Amino acid sequence: MPDIQRTLVLLKPDAVQRELVGDVLHRFERKGLKFIAMKLIHLDETTLAEHYSHHTEKPFYKGLVEFMMQTPVVAIVFEGIDVVAEMRKILGSTNPREADAGTVRADFSMDLAGNIAHASDTAENAQIEIDRFFKADELFDYKKLTDQYHFGE
Ligand code: CMP
Repeated sequence: MPDIQRTLVLLKPDAVQRELVGDVLHRFERKGLKFIAMKLIHLDETTLAEHYSHHTEKPFYKGLVEFMMQTPVVAIVFEGIDVVAEMRKILGSTNPREADAGTVRADFSMDLAGNIAHASDTAENAQIEIDRFFKADELFDYKKLTDQYHFGE
């Protein structure tokens, strides 16, 4: 049985300010990834403290929080086979200057804070992050007609 997972993506303020939201979404769509929820959220310090709880002691934490509150972010939930790893592959390494050419971060960014997008690192953390940003009735269940082309039988 294929492993159907969910993952949480945040398109960050640099993507919004630099008008890259459409380009990045286009890459996800062309890969065949299916979004089941999407909205703008203006993050606050409390939510960011939860979301980045593993970074609160890091020297870059304060700057990261200020950066993440500059504009609303685009929060998206994707669902599909191995989508946690697939999304991270498409985005590339956290540091855009170390990311492989062809990945979103390598192709669109030079900056570590402004690295275009956040994506969950495991299926378990994805569930926690999805619950942080979305209510159950904001997640949609629908069939994509193109699945037969992307995934075969
Ligand atoms: P993200 O996937 O959102 O998770 C934590 C974020 O912290 C990461 O992407 C980067 O944008 C940012 N980050 C990680 N390391 C550094 C650093 N050394 N300096 C500034 N920002 C960083």
